[in-house]
Amino acid sequence: MTRTVYVNGNYLPETEAKISIFDRGFLMADGVYEVTSVLDGKLIDFDAHAKRLRRSLDELDMASPVTMDELLAIHRELVLQNKVEEGLVYLQITRGAPADRDFAFPDPETVPSSLVLFTQNKPGLADSPVARVGIKVISIEDIRWGRRDIKTIQLLYPSMGKMIAKKAGADDAWMIQDGHVTEGTSNNAYIVKGRKIITRPRSNDILHGITRAAVLRFAKEAQMEIEERRFTIDEAKEADEAFITSASTFVMPVVEIDGVALGDGTPGKVAPRLREIYLEESREAAIWQSERGQAALATLPLPARKYKSTAPDTAARQTILPKSGKLSSLSRIVRISQNRLYSNVMAARNIAMWLAQFRTVDIAASGYWRNRFLIAVWTQAKLGTNTISAAIDPLIRLFITPVNSESSDLGHQISIRWKERLTTFAAQISMVVIRNA
Ligand code: PDD
Repeated sequence: MTRTVYVNGNYLPETEAKISIFDRGFLMADGVYEVTSVLDGKLIDFDAHAKRLRRSLDELDMASPVTMDELLAIHRELVLQNKVEEGLVYLQITRGAPADRDFAFPDPETVPSSLVLFTQNKPGLADSPVARVGIKVISIEDIRWGRRDIKTIQLLYPSMGKMIAKKAGADDAWMIQDGHVTEGTSNNAYIVKGRKIITRPRSNDILHGITRAAVLRFAKEAQMEIEERRFTIDEAKEADEAFITSASTFVMPVVEIDGVALGDGTPGKVAPRLREIYLEESREAAIWQSERGQAALATLPLPARKYKSTAPDTAARQTILPKSGKLSSLSRIVRISQNRLYSNVMAARNIAMWLAQFRTVDIAASGYWRNRFLIAVWTQAKLGTNTISAAIDPLIRLFITPVNSESSDLGHQISIRWKERLTTFAAQISMVVIRNA
C-alpha cells in the first residue's frame, strides 16, 4: 500500500513526496526528529514528544514551521489516512533548504524549516515475540557528540553501532563512556538488582527518553525502587536483569551483555512486568485529542455510581430526536462501521463528524480514558440552548458527564464503557441522541 506522507503542508502519496537536495537535513544532518508510537490507533504520550521537540528546536535555535496543535492534527490525520492501528509516526524538522550549500545557518525569515512526517505500520509492536525472549547487547565506545539530549538526525554512529552488534550476533549495542553505560543506540538502558531499577540520570550524555520518564513514573507508582545513577558495563553484566526503553520497543528485556547471560538468560520478573504496566497505562492515557480536550478530560469526574437502566421507549426517542432526522445518518455510519470493521478510531471519527453537523457542536476529543471510551464534545452555545443527551440502555451503560469547565465553553463528555468489540461500540454509539432544548 502506498502511504500518505506529509511534506511541508501537503499530504501526498509517498512516491510523490519531494525534498530539495539543498535541504540542510540532507546536507548537514541539521535537523531534529521525534518518533511517537501508536497503539489502538492512538498516539502514545504525544504531549511529551511535542515538548521534547520544542526543546530540541530551541537548543538548536531552529524554528518550527507549525504550532504543536497543528503537529498533533497532522499526526492524527496521517494515522487515520494510513489506518495505523499499531506502529510509529516519524517526524522530522530541518533548517530548510537555502539556495546553496553553506555552513552558516540560513535566515529563518527567508528559509523556512522543512517538516516531514510519515507513519510506519507495525502490527504486533505491543505483543512482540522478541519481548518474550529478550535481546542480546554488546558494548561499544560512545563516540557521539556531547549534546545527546537533543534529538538530532545525526544517527550515523548509532547505525554503525547496530551493525557492529548485528555482525557480533547481537541485537543492539550499549554505548560506554568512561567505563559507564550511557544508553543503547536508540534506547535508554537500565539494570535491575534485586528489585532496584538503576538507570543513568538525565544529562547532556543521554536522550531524555519519553518512555523512560513514563516507565520510571509507573515503576514508582508500583512501589519499585529506583536509583538514578551511572552504572558500569561490568556492573551490568552482574545484574539480575537489564532492559531498554524507547517509543519503538516500549520496555524490552536484555538477557545477555557481551556474551554474558544475565540470571538464567531469560527475561526476569521486573522488565516483563514493567512492559505490561507501561502498555496498559499508556493505552489508557492515550487520548486522541486537542489540548483543550485534554485539559477538560483531566478534570473529568468519574461517575460515583453505576448508572441506572433507563432504556428509552420509542416515543421518548422520537421527541428527543433532532427535527432534521439526523439519527438516520448516524445509523448509517454505525452500519458502515460494522460492515467495514473500521477501527474504533475511525468509528469515533465518523461519529464525531456526525455530531459536528449540529450547529455549535465541536468535537474535541475521543479516546480511552480509564477503561472508558470517551468522546468529548464542546458546544460554543450558551448553556441550555443545545444539550447533548444520551439514552441509557440497560446493557451498555452509556452516560454523559458535564465537564467541570473553567473556560467559557459549555462542555459535555459522553463516556462509554468500552467493551473491546467494535460491534458493541457501534451499538453503544447508536444510542446517543441530540436533544434540541
Ligand atoms: N529512539 N536514546 C536514544 C539515543 C534514542 O534514539 C531513543 C529513541 C531513546 C528513547 O527515547 P524515547 O523513549 O523517547 O523513544 C533513547 C527512537 C525510538 C528512534 O530513533 O527511532
